Amino acid sequence: MYLKSLKLINFRNYNQLALEFHPKINVFVGENAQGKTNILEAIYLTSTAKSFRTSKDRELIKFDKDRAYIKVEGKKRYTDTTVELKLEEGKKKQIKLNGMTLSKNSELLNNVYVVVFSPEDLKLIKEGPSERRKFIDNEIAQMKPSYFHHLNRYNKVLMQRNNLIKKIYHNKKLMDTLDIWNEKLIELGTKLMMERERFVTRINLLSRLIHRKITENKENLEVRYMSSIELKNDFKDTLESFRKTLQEALDVDLQRGTTTFGPHRDDLGVFVNGIDIRSFGSQGQQRTCALSLKLAEIELIKGETAEYPILLLDDVMSELDIKRQTFLIKALKDVQIFITTTEMNHLNELNVNKEYIFHVKNAVVYNESM
Ligand SMILES: Nc1ncnc2c1ncn2[C@@H]1O[C@H](COP(=O)(O)OP(=O)(O)O)[C@@H](O)[C@H]1O
Ligand SMILES: [Mg+2]
Repeated sequence: MYLKSLKLINFRNYNQLALEFHPKINVFVGENAQGKTNILEAIYLTSTAKSFRTSKDRELIKFDKDRAYIKVEGKKRYTDTTVELKLEEGKKKQIKLNGMTLSKNSELLNNVYVVVFSPEDLKLIKEGPSERRKFIDNEIAQMKPSYFHHLNRYNKVLMQRNNLIKKIYHNKKLMDTLDIWNEKLIELGTKLMMERERFVTRINLLSRLIHRKITENKENLEVRYMSSIELKNDFKDTLESFRKTLQEALDVDLQRGTTTFGPHRDDLGVFVNGIDIRSFGSQGQQRTCALSLKLAEIELIKGETAEYPILLLDDVMSELDIKRQTFLIKALKDVQIFITTTEMNHLNELNVNKEYIFHVKNAVVYNESM
């Protein structure tokens, strides 16, 4: 799919903005703090109803205003789609999909598909496990909104179980109520783990092929789902395995006042030619692996939804050498890409249509033909 247009009113530092996009490459160039990422953020919001930078809607509304508006028009294989968001201070955001107001934000998912690639993502491999869990969760949720719902419920149940465990330490009588929370935790947790396992298996196959191409057959990439619970072939057995681990860990949990095992402790193992690249990879290797994973994610979304997602490259091109840049653009010839950069020089090879090089200066956007 691709986006045809974007409209903003009072969003971040913009008063009003109306842009038409190219179905392939669009570049936003300008100095820091001018409003480039704000545009990508607005696009991302029309996909997930959330920002990739803040959880506070207030921050999205222009400082001196009390409401903001975002609209995109997109083209999909068989249909067009319009998404509108209205943000108002102190109110729930209002979302319209093709003119119809949604009753829940999650109904927006599975419509506009977006993949973001930022310098933080380049660090995905060397960061801690929580970043890699976030990567897995976001990708699954985008294709499967019910996953997002289960994840939220799991996190709530986990918090409640942790609170209870801290209280039990002082008041043993509360032990009776623990079972209820345990059962909820293992049921939701098993759903998450099985979904994650399925996702990682597929991303492994796709990223392996891509990684071979980028490294000219020198490196064999393998990603593995590393769960703190022993996974079995079916739901019931995995549920049982989680239950058993919880029981065995009860004393440790009570001592530490927290839940030691479960999907909130999972990780994604990343291996190159059998070596754990999280600890032993060079920076270059770690970055190439991150790139392979991101590209695999794009193929996966295409496979699941029959639509290519839109790719947002926030300040990431200048971090890649020419070889990787060229590979990226070539591999994505059917994908609409939005690039932000402070420097046009290193993008010369891409031959971007001048009309779609947008200069961004203090929330004013112009191109050479404007
Ligand atoms: N709610 C807001 N109202 C007005 N300006 C904002 C708001 N949020 C951020 N900004 C401004 O937006 C600018 C940052 O925009 P951003 O898109 O991140 O810049 P960059 O061009 O470096 O990507 C900063 O000048 C910041 O002060
Ligand atoms: Mg930026």
